[in-house]
Amino acid sequence: MRVGIRRARASDIATLDALAQRAVAEIGRAFYSRRQIVRAVNRMASVDSRLIADGSLYVAELGDTIVGCIGWTPGGSLLPARAGLVEEDLTAEPGSAVLRSLFVEPAHAGRGVARSLFRRCKSDAAKAGFRRMEALASAAAKGPCRRFGFARSRAVRLRFDDGLELVSYHMTLDL
Ligand SMILES: CC(C)(COP(=O)(O)OP(=O)(O)OC[C@H]1O[C@@H](n2cnc3c(N)ncnc32)[C@H](O)[C@@H]1OP(=O)(O)O)[C@@H](O)C(=O)NCCC(=O)NCCS
Repeated sequence: MRVGIRRARASDIATLDALAQRAVAEIGRAFYSRRQIVRAVNRMASVDSRLIADGSLYVAELGDTIVGCIGWTPGGSLLPARAGLVEEDLTAEPGSAVLRSLFVEPAHAGRGVARSLFRRCKSDAAKAGFRRMEALASAAAKGPCRRFGFARSRAVRLRFDDGLELVSYHMTLDL
């Protein structure tokens, strides 16, 4: 499948948030409980629109249809913003770019969309001078990230204020 990759525009955000919710709800349910998925959809399934101004949020298109997205930031917290976690902060090492907002439309999953998105993301982060990338990968993204060359470093228990937990994986890749 040949997908085009372009930088995201502000007008894409509503489409990307809806896509992210479908991705977490439909793909994530093979990896998490129903309660965990409801929480993840409500608190974590959105794209970080601040990345648009930096030109570091990308969409994958098949014809005119958006089928996925990915982003990166120069460092920062690995934890999703505004998720309501009671976790202490998990900040990337100095010099690391952070992979963010990786979601693929369920109907187009398993066909290399994430790989195409990641190739562009990795290339641009390397061109910007980063030599390492870190990610807090969901259980659904752990396998793909391993295939992209990330090493699994450790499982992180994300804990919400009502005690609900959700395991993610802190992974690193030399660029
Ligand atoms: C994670 C996600 C983005 C992957 O998207 P995708 O387009 O289906 O991934 P691809 O088809 O590009 O697959 C990438 C690689 O991972 C491999 N892969 C896919 N699922 C895998 C799994 N469960 N275990 C191991 N490897 C897996 C593929 O075989 C492929 O490897 P290859 O290119 O070497 O053949 C998608 O499943 C998704 O949106 N999940 C729900 C949202 C989510 O959890 N996002 C991550 C937040 S951190």
